[in-house]
Amino acid sequence: MNKRVVIFGGSGFVGQSIAKQLATAEYQVISISRSGKPKQVEPWMEQVTWVRADVFTPTDWQEHVKSGDVLIDAIGLLVENKAKQLTYQRYHYELVKLMVASLGSSQPDLFIYVSAAHGLPFHQGYLYWKKQAEAFLEKQSFPVAFIKPSLLYGEGRKYSRAMARMILFSKKLPIIQQALTPIKPQPVEKVGVAVQQAIKQSLKGDRYES
Ligand SMILES: NC(=O)c1ccc[n+]([C@@H]2O[C@H](COP(=O)([O-])OP(=O)(O)OC[C@H]3O[C@@H](n4cnc5c(N)ncnc54)[C@H](OP(=O)(O)O)[C@@H]3O)[C@@H](O)[C@H]2O)c1
Repeated sequence: MNKRVVIFGGSGFVGQSIAKQLATAEYQVISISRSGKPKQVEPWMEQVTWVRADVFTPTDWQEHVKSGDVLIDAIGLLVENKAKQLTYQRYHYELVKLMVASLGSSQPDLFIYVSAAHGLPFHQGYLYWKKQAEAFLEKQSFPVAFIKPSLLYGEGRKYSRAMARMILFSKKLPIIQQALTPIKPQPVEKVGVAVQQAIKQSLKGDRYES
């Protein structure tokens, strides 16, 4: 039987790329997010179980996670809002600790964390708290894999293609070139492919990092 994969944030921009790739490859896919099923309907979405739950309320999603073979954290924050408790520390780090604590004695075959290749200009702490989460996961007794994309673009996010084009153009300008050096825009579909690869490698006992 195909693996049961639980994606936290499977309805998001990155999460959908993962859910689509895995559902199409006939994995059993469960997405957990506050909004549940995305508004725009695509045929592959019928293959996914869409659970509506706030990830900070484990009692609402714990049963799904305990039966998952593979867990994927595709929740994260691009822009902090401290007044609303939307902080990198909480979303990138404390959330991972909460997920692991909620597993109890059940252990996944693999935990995949969507991290990032680099920080965001003018967003202090974005990468720091991702690294803290990675370090925490490294200490667990189950296998982990980290996916580290750069800026992603695709149909699911308005203006992302235009932004990617603008960055590629700006990288040719000497004054801002240096600040943009680490940013290498990638199509969001690459994340789904990388996740499937990580699962396949993990089944063979190999470690994956991208
Ligand atoms: N986009 C990029 O270019 C890029 C590049 C590198 C790394 N990443 C990383 O990829 C991850 C996902 O980014 P994204 O662009 O896909 O973000 P996104 O589109 O905002 O998706 C976030 C997902 O998390 C869910 N979510 C947020 N808060 C939640 C909560 N309290 N409870 C349950 N679900 C919650 C959202 O659904 P609801 O709001 O419905 O709950 C949504 O499904 C982040 O960790 C980000 O740092 C993204």
